[in-house]
Amino acid sequence: MIRQNGKGFIVIGKQACLHILFYGKKTVRFAYSRDQYLPASTIAVIAEPEQREAQIDGYELQTGGLIISVNPETLAVEISDQDGKIYSEDIAVSFADKLIRKKILGESGIYGNGEKYTWLNQIGTKTTNYCSDVLFHNPIQHPQEEEMHTAIPFYLGASPDLAYGIYFDNTHRTYFDFGKSNPDLISFQADGGNLDYYFIAGPQVADVVKGYGHLTGTAPLPRKSVLGYHQSRYSYSSEEELLAVAEDLRKYDIPCSVLYMDIHYMDAYKVFTVDRDRFKNFESMLKKLKDMGFLVVVIVNPGVKAEKGYAVYEEGLNNNYYVTRPSGEVYYGEVWPKPAVFPDFLRSEVRQWWGEKYRWLLDCGVGGIWNDMNEPTDFTLEIGTLPADAVHKTDDGVKLPHREVHNIYAMLQTMSTRTALEGLQPDKRSFVLTRAAFAGSQRYAALWTGDNASVWEHLENSIPMLLNLGLSGYSFVGADVGGYRGDCSGELLVRWTQLGAFYPFFRNHSEIDTAPQEPWTYPQKILDITRKYIRLRYRLLTHYYNLMRESTLTGQPAIRPLFYHYQDDPETYHINDQFLLGESLMVCPVTRPGANHRQVYFPQGLWFDYWSGEPIEGGRYLSVEAPLEKLPLYVRAGTILPHDDIDSVDYISYTEAKSLTMHCYAGQDGRYRLYLDDGFSDEFKHGRYSELEFFLTDDRNEPGLTVKTLHEGYAIPGISYKYILPGSRK
Ligand code: GLC
Repeated sequence: MIRQNGKGFIVIGKQACLHILFYGKKTVRFAYSRDQYLPASTIAVIAEPEQREAQIDGYELQTGGLIISVNPETLAVEISDQDGKIYSEDIAVSFADKLIRKKILGESGIYGNGEKYTWLNQIGTKTTNYCSDVLFHNPIQHPQEEEMHTAIPFYLGASPDLAYGIYFDNTHRTYFDFGKSNPDLISFQADGGNLDYYFIAGPQVADVVKGYGHLTGTAPLPRKSVLGYHQSRYSYSSEEELLAVAEDLRKYDIPCSVLYMDIHYMDAYKVFTVDRDRFKNFESMLKKLKDMGFLVVVIVNPGVKAEKGYAVYEEGLNNNYYVTRPSGEVYYGEVWPKPAVFPDFLRSEVRQWWGEKYRWLLDCGVGGIWNDMNEPTDFTLEIGTLPADAVHKTDDGVKLPHREVHNIYAMLQTMSTRTALEGLQPDKRSFVLTRAAFAGSQRYAALWTGDNASVWEHLENSIPMLLNLGLSGYSFVGADVGGYRGDCSGELLVRWTQLGAFYPFFRNHSEIDTAPQEPWTYPQKILDITRKYIRLRYRLLTHYYNLMRESTLTGQPAIRPLFYHYQDDPETYHINDQFLLGESLMVCPVTRPGANHRQVYFPQGLWFDYWSGEPIEGGRYLSVEAPLEKLPLYVRAGTILPHDDIDSVDYISYTEAKSLTMHCYAGQDGRYRLYLDDGFSDEFKHGRYSELEFFLTDDRNEPGLTVKTLHEGYAIPGISYKYILPGSRK
């Protein structure tokens, strides 16, 4: 019998119990336990279970349009809707092995799984999740099933008539097989922990993504400026060098909002120190950069140099803040500063201690924090990270092995960072960047995909990688533009900047000893084209900001694979090299050298060429021209797209356009909700924002526009309109 049990339901089987709980109308948790106690959720889950009325008939439960039936012998589950459509069907459940096998039910695609070096659609593949410092995304050394920097045990299954998601709430190493070993089966399993997962029913892809956002949280609203261009290098290693970069950016008229200080700014790689030989006037340099309109982000890694007399190290040692060996001795590993110890971020006391250290950096004028090497990386062992039996402690003093904490180590570090930053500057929005992440990390930090290389394959692969991250709750993501390792050719830089201008996180970064990768170090033509696309990003900044706000509110990613909005079109399920910004701007990057054409798939409906305004009937592939200076971009009919008028404002004001032009592409049901605020403070939480709603009343020849003010709490810039009709050219 299924019985009511607290807020949820329980089935008591012979070997185990199954708890069924609801977290929203269509999110159902299935947690197996030895006894009748509900296992604790991990830190990923922030939603609370909801009490639900349900009809129970023996081993069948009906609520919210879902029918759940449980096999009393095996505790296997089947989920369907009232029309008899089966969403999920267990073939085997092994409580002892922490394993579930489900039948493949005709899914056209499997997506998500966080950061993966894979194609968009992961059906027929398998993968494991254990945060790992993989170098250079090498598919031979690191085939798809290898671990990457993130461990996000969430996948999304989609077909034209249904979509669902499964989040396996387990911090251990997890294994997923999407029909690789057996084309009829999907399985997932963990090395330890609980057999506890959440099923999110669609039927639309967006329903699933929103359900996952509700479950694990969404990113806070970023500063508008951090949606602009970021310039970085390992490392701008002196004051003169960093200031010269800032001046060059201004001199060459390249809009840029954020600059980076990589590991060389520290004294011998000691966190929370500055090398005063290289950065004599650290504070006044930061002030100067701030006055020039830049936010400066510094890297802060978890490894603390083990050096007698170094205050941070000794404080942590005296307070037992570091990860230990099973014997209780502190564990010494090796990172940039050579011998290093690792703060045990599992404890709130350690997170607070660490967080407090940022006070000094912020006081110096640092604008944001980059938490790298937080898988955590350890150079001493072949496994590249801490030994699985290293010991962490909970706030209650319970010892947990590293194998259980490993996947959330980075999340705990970024939690410490963001909480501290928000506490230290409560009226401003904080910027934190991370390399490693777990489910829910989107609440604390933006993410970049680590050390790629300056090769076309990595440009190409960044598209599905970032799209899958977006489907896994992670909207604020990007890859190093131009590639990290190796020298980037001018052509590659152009193509990558064209693409990067549409990454949510848009940063050019490269490795030490590579050729300079800043746009102005290339010939004039390359500089001119990259500038054009960086400027395009700033023209679309308000639109981007609106999309990121949507991510904050609903969990929907800013960039989306085509099937997200064309779920009924099977042609879209495998498209790796095109994507949508929001709902209606289709970005079609060139991913091959020498190409001056590419194939574009136009989904059903009318599209407009962004550059020429030419109308294109969809529902077909077309070969389009793409000379070096052109990124093929298309806009769906019925779109309203705000553009910042940046030409009239100076760089510092880039985040706050003085005026906007709404580009209106004639078509049905055009609608845009425009959100405006100061872009950096928390004043919006106190009503200091404005929201307008625009409606495009079509007919194809004579569009009209109506505007409604939904909220007025912030100065509304001047707005003008530009109509793009099928018969007109831009
Ligand atoms: C790691 C990071 C890279 C950084 C380097 C030095 O490799 O992924 O971005 O530049 O460390 O800090």
